[in-house]
Amino acid sequence: AVRLRVREALGAREPADAVRVQGWVRSVRSQKEVLFLHINDGSSLESLQVVADPSLEKRQVHLKDLTFGSAVEVEGKLVKSPHRMQNMELQAETIRVVGPCDIWSFPLKMKERHPLEYVRQFPHLRCRSNTLGALLRIRSEATAGIHSFFQDNGYVHIHTPIITSNDCEGAGELFEIETSSEAKESAEKTHFFNVPAFLTVSGQLHLEVMAGAFTHVFTFGPTFRAENSQSRRHLAEFYMVEAELSFTESLQDIMQVMEDLFKTVTSTVLSKCPQDVELFHKYIAPAQKVMHVLFSSSCRISYSEAVEILKQAPQTFTFKPEWGCDLQTEHEKYLVKHCGEVPVFVVNYPYDLKPFYMRDNEDGPQHTVAAVDLLVPGVGELCGGSLREERLPFLESRLQRLALTDAYQWYLDLRKFGSVPHGGFGMGFERYLQYILGVDNIKDVIPFPRFSHSCLL
Ligand code: 4AD
Ligand code: MG
Repeated sequence: AVRLRVREALGAREPADAVRVQGWVRSVRSQKEVLFLHINDGSSLESLQVVADPSLEKRQVHLKDLTFGSAVEVEGKLVKSPHRMQNMELQAETIRVVGPCDIWSFPLKMKERHPLEYVRQFPHLRCRSNTLGALLRIRSEATAGIHSFFQDNGYVHIHTPIITSNDCEGAGELFEIETSSEAKESAEKTHFFNVPAFLTVSGQLHLEVMAGAFTHVFTFGPTFRAENSQSRRHLAEFYMVEAELSFTESLQDIMQVMEDLFKTVTSTVLSKCPQDVELFHKYIAPAQKVMHVLFSSSCRISYSEAVEILKQAPQTFTFKPEWGCDLQTEHEKYLVKHCGEVPVFVVNYPYDLKPFYMRDNEDGPQHTVAAVDLLVPGVGELCGGSLREERLPFLESRLQRLALTDAYQWYLDLRKFGSVPHGGFGMGFERYLQYILGVDNIKDVIPFPRFSHSCLL
């Protein structure tokens, strides 16, 4: 028999004899004349209908194990389905239960649409639900789409370190790396690497090194921040896509790459898994419009304009809007609403609010840097980027004031040896998925909802 994935069987053009399909049972319906099964193997949202003669069940005693959730292998004929909704179905000649499933203790139930909050309690089983299955296929296609976008546009992919001694963002949200206490007792020095080491909060500084050789580079990997785990849009471990471009003098160029990346990857996802995306737009976020997530229009304002808009807002905020203060979630929400629920680029933030590497706009009295954040409906900040300070004297004096000169000698070197205007950005991958799919809680767009419900998977 020829082994087919469910997706291949469903899409077959011609009937075929001697076909074998393996997967997990999504429904069983036994009638007098006929036994119906639906089998799913993760290759598509749709399951394959299997039709069997009930006598098969009597001949093969173990078929009492043929329940929802069990793993099965079916051999038979692939034929045109008489049903309008389905192209092909499998007429079973043999059915083998590979792994039975106790439906009474199995937390997923046949034909039920379990809420995301419910399946989150079962991180090891929720991938077998329709919603998480769809999400994880989309996540996989989006990952491939991100790599293709950059590779097709001449960027070199860099594996930036996960363990590093630099605190790129300077926001104090670091996880420090230590050896286990046993190893510590025998070690003479206090730090394993002689210096404090952390899990990376951003690969940006390493990308800047590489942009000085390859012009356009990107990285896409795990990123760690010690942030509030109760938030609906923060994770301690998340994936960030980062790009860095040399010979770039305008924030507009950075914004253009953000937008192109977004549009290209989203179109890829929509064309590669339309049914999976539709499931989200139908059941999870019914208000989400496909056109809406295609970035058909956007808005651009400066930070100073944003503060003015907030000050004139008819509503009162928990955090009073004031020039020089960070934009809070409530502010981001209002700005997006004010602009008509479209993506909003906010540019030129206060100098004192942003990390040392951002390029000084040399304006005043309200002193700003060339930073850009992209805010999107329902999620808030999706991307953050900037032009980098490429001028040695500016960077030197800023690092000096922060008492960071020694630690960043290597970074200053980049400004001594062939420095060029450059810039880049980072996009939170989970927030991207939240946005295009309309998922409220960020824990529902990762494969394993770590550290929730005391599950340390
Ligand atoms: O704005 P951030 O902090 O920017 C940087 O780290 C820059 N060094 C990136 C660069 O220019 N290369 O983070 C970038 C994005 C945010 O806009 C947000 O989408 C996401 O990363 N992000 C998080 N996503 C989930 N959980 C968290 N705790 C996140 N923190 C940031
Ligand atoms: Mg940011």
